[in-house]
Amino acid sequence: MSSGALYDSFIYPPFSVLDARAKWWQDRKKKWLSLGIDSGKGRKQDLLNGYSDAMARWSASQGKQAAPADWMAKSIFDPVLTELFYAWFSPVGGRVLDPFAGGSVRGVVAGLKGRNYLGFDISEEQIEENRRQAKALQLILNRSGKRAMRSGSISQVCAASSI
Ligand SMILES: C[S@@+](CC[C@H](N)C(=O)[O-])C[C@H]1O[C@@H](n2cnc3c(N)ncnc32)[C@H](O)[C@@H]1O
Repeated sequence: MSSGALYDSFIYPPFSVLDARAKWWQDRKKKWLSLGIDSGKGRKQDLLNGYSDAMARWSASQGKQAAPADWMAKSIFDPVLTELFYAWFSPVGGRVLDPFAGGSVRGVVAGLKGRNYLGFDISEEQIEENRRQAKALQLILNRSGKRAMRSGSISQVCAASSI
């Protein structure tokens, strides 16, 4: 990874081509995930709302082998991409508003990077899981006394609401 004032402030300067396969990116991602973020939890398996079975049947009718699980994969938002956007577009102490929140990653990264995150999601299950992860993470940080990255408070991780 390069160094210099822009890198100190922005992790990676905004006018860069991002390479999420680079070793430094993957190492940073592992560091984030090792804190206990599991953005897939709380998400429904079938993001395609019942279409996964139909697609599996269609594949079979075409003589293709497609396990239903292929269609039901969950996309997990990258914590490094999240922190880059926070660094580029929001000040420490700023507010992040996430109207279709989904998993925990954006809230947890916001809290640990000193932003105040407010996420909305129609799924109670998702919100409960996000809250659980945020609480657990705060406990881990408090207990160990270690702060792997610059810390901030999570004022609210998720608010249950439909929009
Ligand atoms: C695909 S996830 C988005 C995850 C994340 N923001 C991202 O960009 O990766 C969409 C989320 O929006 C939520 N959602 C759908 N309709 C909603 C509504 N009317 N009000 C609030 N949340 C809603 C779903 O429960 C789901 O968790």
